[in-house]
Amino acid sequence: MSEDDKERTVELHYEGGVLKLPVFTGTEGERTIELKTLLGSTGMTTLDPGFGNTASCSSKITYIDGAAGILRYRGYPIEDLAVGATFLEVAYLVIYGELPESGQLKEFSDKLRENADIPADMGTLIDAMPRNGHPMSLLASAVNTLAAYYDDSVDPSDENQVELATIRLLAKLPTIAARIYRNSIGEKPIAPDDSLDYVENFIRMTFGDNAPTGNLGDLFNKAVGMLLVLHADHELNCSTATVRVVGSSQADIFASVASGVNALSGPSHGGANQAVLEMLEGIRDSGTSIEDFLERVKAREVRLMGFGHRVYKNFDPRSKEIKVLASQILDHDDNPDELFKLALKLEAAALADSYFTERKLYPNVDFYTGVIYRTMGFPNNMFTVLFALGRLPGWIAHYREQLHDPAFRIARPRQHYIGSAERRYPGQG
Ligand code: CMC
Repeated sequence: MSEDDKERTVELHYEGGVLKLPVFTGTEGERTIELKTLLGSTGMTTLDPGFGNTASCSSKITYIDGAAGILRYRGYPIEDLAVGATFLEVAYLVIYGELPESGQLKEFSDKLRENADIPADMGTLIDAMPRNGHPMSLLASAVNTLAAYYDDSVDPSDENQVELATIRLLAKLPTIAARIYRNSIGEKPIAPDDSLDYVENFIRMTFGDNAPTGNLGDLFNKAVGMLLVLHADHELNCSTATVRVVGSSQADIFASVASGVNALSGPSHGGANQAVLEMLEGIRDSGTSIEDFLERVKAREVRLMGFGHRVYKNFDPRSKEIKVLASQILDHDDNPDELFKLALKLEAAALADSYFTERKLYPNVDFYTGVIYRTMGFPNNMFTVLFALGRLPGWIAHYREQLHDPAFRIARPRQHYIGSAERRYPGQG
């Protein structure tokens, strides 16, 4: 952050005097107070549970305006990218900062095809993992072991190694994810096919001959590609913040991304897409009315999964796009999808209820994804794996950006200690 960025200062009045703190203005006019000198000057720290007010870095990757429902990757609105760009274009944009020229895209895509296979013994290792284990647990373990299989690309201080690891991660994650799925259904793995594009290849490795073909196949490829685009980055969400924190210790990119996969698995974060579908199935199977279910939510017995967001306090622009996609795929007059219909009713009832509107709770990215994935044949426990495939470019981009940040330091938050004062071990004083 240059001196020019410091538009003004704020004053903090405290017992010991007055501290002037610089205020930085971001690209879109958002302002940030820099607290670097606070502890040294005043002896005080800040307490900000969940980092709700804390910017831990400056970033050029993604802009979100939560009040206005705006999301942009590298300046491009998500609405444009969702309908106009392929996942590989968006991955390139998020990681390298610019949309690829056609030659750059071909080179990128060729490298991913060439690196899509995993070593045979890594395949054996994945096959030996518990077949009924949660795919997110297996995915995180497999990503972690990539560092051991590819120890020529683990040095964060070597740009060529980081680039090689970037390609390997992007190329191999679909292969690993599809193998985990096929093991779970007792089927043999399917090797990557380098005649297919990135998304088609993933669907083919997952479903083999059962993958839809013709118009339906095209629709599914397009839908999965668009869902991956919508998930590609979301600035400092829990898993991306985790990747940055782990990477800040100079851990390699595979270890950092594996940590991101683990952070994503929780139901408050990426695991919400599975939780939404289970919630809808639970309402359907129990025969509970939507009104009764929402009463239970308001009594804080359960959460309305797929609703609410730390940053979006108006609407989540991703959820708008996904709802349109869900309607295209699921809203057929002759065969309407029952869980999609239930989700629509649940959303309408929640948005008509002051409990949700007063708290600014709206559907988030996870509310409608599960019903789409389900109709494609993905089991509930694979939904978050699809989120991980989409979020991978964001994790990589943040890891790489941090390596070049002049303000880069190991992540090490402070605490507000409220435990026991000093006391002595019996017999010691
Ligand atoms: N259902 C019912 N009440 C809710 C919900 C919900 N889904 N979300 C928030 N609230 C209430 C909460 O109880 C609190 O009420 P009060 O002020 O009366 O105590 C108020 O709204 C503010 O909530 P919060 O927990 O302080 O909000 P947060 O920013 O800490 O949490 C969240 C954000 C996403 C974790 C939360 O909204 C949630 O648990 N949602 C359900 C899980 C979900 O869908 N997660 C996916 C998030 S989007 C994609 C991603 O990140 O992966």
